[in-house]
Amino acid sequence: MTIRREKAVGGGLGRREFLAAGAAALAFAIVKPQSVRGAEANSKIEIGLIGCGGRGGWIAKLFQENGNYKFVAGADYFEDKVKTFATKFGVDASRSYTGLSACKKLAESKLDAVVIESPPYFHPGHAAGAVEAGRHVYLAKPPAVDVPGCTLVAESGKKATAKNLVYLIDFQTRADPIFREAVKRVHNGDIGRIVSGEAVYYCGFTFGNAEFDVKDPEVRLRHWTVDNVLSGDIITEQNVHALDVASWVIDEAPVRAVGTCGRKAKKGSGDLHDHFAVVFTFPGDVIVSFASKQYGEGWDDIGVRMFGPRGTLDAHYFGAVSIKGSVPYAGGTMKNLYTEGAVANIAEFHNSIVNKKYDNPTVAPSVRSDLTTILGRTAAYKGGPVTWDEMIKANEKLEFDLKGLKA
Ligand SMILES: NC(=O)c1ccc[n+]([C@@H]2O[C@H](COP(=O)([O-])OP(=O)(O)OC[C@H]3O[C@@H](n4cnc5c(N)ncnc54)[C@H](O)[C@@H]3O)[C@@H](O)[C@H]2O)c1
Repeated sequence: MTIRREKAVGGGLGRREFLAAGAAALAFAIVKPQSVRGAEANSKIEIGLIGCGGRGGWIAKLFQENGNYKFVAGADYFEDKVKTFATKFGVDASRSYTGLSACKKLAESKLDAVVIESPPYFHPGHAAGAVEAGRHVYLAKPPAVDVPGCTLVAESGKKATAKNLVYLIDFQTRADPIFREAVKRVHNGDIGRIVSGEAVYYCGFTFGNAEFDVKDPEVRLRHWTVDNVLSGDIITEQNVHALDVASWVIDEAPVRAVGTCGRKAKKGSGDLHDHFAVVFTFPGDVIVSFASKQYGEGWDDIGVRMFGPRGTLDAHYFGAVSIKGSVPYAGGTMKNLYTEGAVANIAEFHNSIVNKKYDNPTVAPSVRSDLTTILGRTAAYKGGPVTWDEMIKANEKLEFDLKGLKA
């Protein structure tokens, strides 16, 4: 399958195929409610957590608080992680799975949906396996770390639609009403045709500076956040939040990128870079300068600014969202988008399951922004220009040697 630089309007499809897919999804909607597991108005959706670490445990509580879900299974490579989760959420030991096959065992056990909060390297395979087993999928960002992974996510998103399954990728900004309204106004032409923009992700030493044995695959797995293969590096794993908003606003994939990156302040094991600077060219010669850092103190921001002849969109994950110019939009300030965005996505996941909405509109834009980060990373590693088409053609796979890990 090829991923073209086309408008991301649904499941990785082009606009025309999307309209056809929409008609097919409507036809699917005529099935009797009882024939879809978990769709009965008063029954809870039986759900399993794959990846029982920090985000997994945190988001499981939000699923529980939603009131429409019941955790019945957990899967983690490590026993200690799944045990902690199982104890807290009342999951039976017989439904707590460990090792590399944990995800498959969970997906093939009796449940309706899975929440995937494992390291990004595993996301495409974990999600594809769940769709194969007929489960709805709620997937953490970033969907993948490389082009083949993005292709698999796009394909399993389409497969989910064809199998009457919901597949939601959890980006908080795209669930927020103020972000949505601001982007809609830009799409309506309120700032004029976008000429250029900027996207930034500045933070401190998010993942610490620990020293560990990088030759031990289990130890590497524990420290996946500072491992470029398992995480995709900071540009894909973290900075995707900013580049997702940029590509959403422009509503295109970039044509090419040129960039650089380095590691000067970060200490400890692992090969994570601590800063990136990339210039993206989008169709119509729209230039977006992107910069990120993951070290130091004194300045944090996840922000996007887009400039047109009539106005400026100024949008911040932890701050205000507004449009200034001839057609202003006062917008508002994010109170707690980190939590509220996830709460909204969890509610939408349930809403989509019970109302049989299988168009899965988060998949295509998430794959597009993920590939945008991969383009930036490829250009930065090379220290020269790379086009989108070259990146797709190269189809480079990041490889993690699983030898020595428990099945
Ligand atoms: N704002 C956001 O959307 C947001 C915030 C934080 C994390 N995340 C995402 O959530 C995911 C998890 O991040 P985290 O911070 O919870 O990391 P974490 O290390 O705390 O948790 C990951 C868990 O996955 C487990 N794991 C590793 N390999 C596995 C495998 N093959 N099968 C099953 N389990 C495996 C680990 O043992 C660990 O318990 C990442 O994709 C991350 O980018 C998203």
